[in-house]
Order: sequence, then structure tokens, then C-alpha cells
Amino acid sequence: MTLQELQGTAKAVVTAGKGILAMDESNPTCGKRFKKMGIESTVENRRAWRELLLTTPNLSNFISGAILYDETIRQSIADGTPFAQYMGKQGIIPGIKVDTGAKDLAGFPGEKVTEGLDGLRERLAEYKGIGARFAKWRAVITIGNGIPSNGCIHANAHALARYAALCQEAGIVPIVEPEVLIDGDHTIDRCYEVTSETLSTVFAELKAQRVLLDGTILKPSMVISGLDCPQQASVEEVAEKTVRCLLKNIPKNLAGIAFLSGGQSNERATAHLNAMNARHKDLPWPLTFSYARALQQPALETWSGKKENAAAAQKLLYHRAKLNGTASMGQYNETMEKEAA
Ligand code: 13P
Repeated sequence: MTLQELQGTAKAVVTAGKGILAMDESNPTCGKRFKKMGIESTVENRRAWRELLLTTPNLSNFISGAILYDETIRQSIADGTPFAQYMGKQGIIPGIKVDTGAKDLAGFPGEKVTEGLDGLRERLAEYKGIGARFAKWRAVITIGNGIPSNGCIHANAHALARYAALCQEAGIVPIVEPEVLIDGDHTIDRCYEVTSETLSTVFAELKAQRVLLDGTILKPSMVISGLDCPQQASVEEVAEKTVRCLLKNIPKNLAGIAFLSGGQSNERATAHLNAMNARHKDLPWPLTFSYARALQQPALETWSGKKENAAAAQKLLYHRAKLNGTASMGQYNETMEKEAA
């Protein structure tokens, strides 16, 4: 694949008014979300859920690409069409999660490093053959007493850069996801500090590994108050501090930015994205969404594993995709929440 093709894929993923549906939960994570709804986590239930999401009528109006998990990219919709092929026909670009999860970082209590580099070149070639055109690797940074450490930030940034370089070699656009977790009682200013340090380290490592930024998408967390912080920042403050942090640390030639929702409420995740885009019309990169929970949650609750609820669940997914697509243009307002899904 040429550089032009990488750039073309990256541009298509962050195209105006659209974002990414993250539906790449590992089996244990999917199992936890199913369990809360009383749904059994079987291979068939996971397949049926992913089919429901991807066959939502007109989803591609607001969704440019979807990230699949290893099990899902090998599965098909009921008529036997492989998911990746079906998505291609719908105009939804197939993506794949390729990390193998965050594990305890030796010597750094309470901190994690994401694994999955061994054999990645071969796995990327296989996923490319199945139809994947972009990939995702999630690193996790925890804020706590005395953490994150430089050692943890560096280990994760280095792995992200090695992964991104392998993706580009394979002709696959890397989504680089350094998630600063929302868990904890830290202030928004502490989150700013940690996010800024993390992003600056990640971009230094991407440069050192010769990753082409115009063929790369960043999936960051927002600069936000910790979930248990008594002083919760307003929508405007989150938007301003997040944009300031991005402008300080991210080169202008990055292809685009697609946020994760990270445990924010559905409405907040949409309002924050909207405020950034409404207040800043002159940013060097498109700002959009790559949400999992904030897109899927209402649909999952309604589906509850029952076939007869599928159409109602799809309407809820479509509604959230539309609201977030609108927010990516800075044109959302709260009254749209109440519009019939
Ligand atoms: P959330 O939007 O639920 O944070 O998930 C995004 C994601 O893909 C996490 O890796």
C-alpha cells in the first residue's frame, strides 16, 4: 500500500460528520457488559449482538468505520456474509483491535503495560486479508498516588509506536489510543498534566519510530475531572482544557483525532465533543468520536439478548450515532436528546 492509500483510509475514517463505532470488546469485557443485562456471553450471543449493531439501517450516515475484535472479524451475519464484507458493502470501513490487553507492569505496582507486539506483523497480514483497513491498540494510564510513573508512560508510548510502525508497513492505518483513565478523585488540572505528559511522550516515540502522522489517527481520552472528584468541571472547561492540551502536544499533520468515551455518560460524551467543535472552527485536525459505551449502552439495555427487541435497539444506536455525528460538526444541542429515536 502506498502512503497515498494510508492517507486516503485515514481521511475516510475521520470524514466530516461521521465517527467510529468501537465494538471491539474482548470476550471478558463483553461478558461483563452482558452479565449486567442478564445476557449469557456465548459465541452466538456475541455474534448476534455485533450483527444487530452492524445491520442498523443507514448506520453509515454517521459511522465511517467500526472496530472489531478477533472473534468478530471471523464471524458472519445470519445470511453467511462475513462481517468485514458486509461492512464494505454498507460503506463502513472495517477495523480491528490488535493489542492483547493491558497487563501488570513489572516493578510498577498499580500500573499496566499493553501487550501484543509478538507476532503482530503476521497477525496484521492475516487481518488485512480478511478486510481490515485500520487497527487499534489501547494503552492505559492510571492516575493515583504517585502514579503514573515515567517508566509506565514510556513503556506504553514505545509499544504504541512499534505497533503503529508495523501497521503502516502492512498498509493498515493505526489508531493510537493512550487512555488516561477517568477513575479516581483527581482534579481536571491533574488530568491535564498527565494527559499532556502522555501525549508528548507518545508523539516523541512515534517520531523516533518513523511513524507517518498523516496516516495515523489518535484516540485520546478527554481532559476531565476524575469520576470521584468532588469538583466536577463544566462542559466548557472540559472542552477548553482538552483542546489546549491537544494543541500543545500534537503536530498539525496528524490525520485526525477520535475520542474514546471512557466512562462518561452518553449525553456528556456528546456534549463535550460538540463544545470542542462548536468553539474551535480552526483546528488543524478533525475531532470526532470513537465511542463504545457511549454509543452502545442504550441499545444494549433495550436488546437484553431478545430478538424481538432488536429493531428498537437499532433505533437507539442510530440515534446516538446521529447525535455524535452532529456533535462532530459542532451542531448538537441538548433538545435533540429528546427527539424520538
Ligand atoms: P469507550 O468509548 O467505552 O471508552 O470505549 C472506547 C474504546 O474503544 C476503548 O478502547
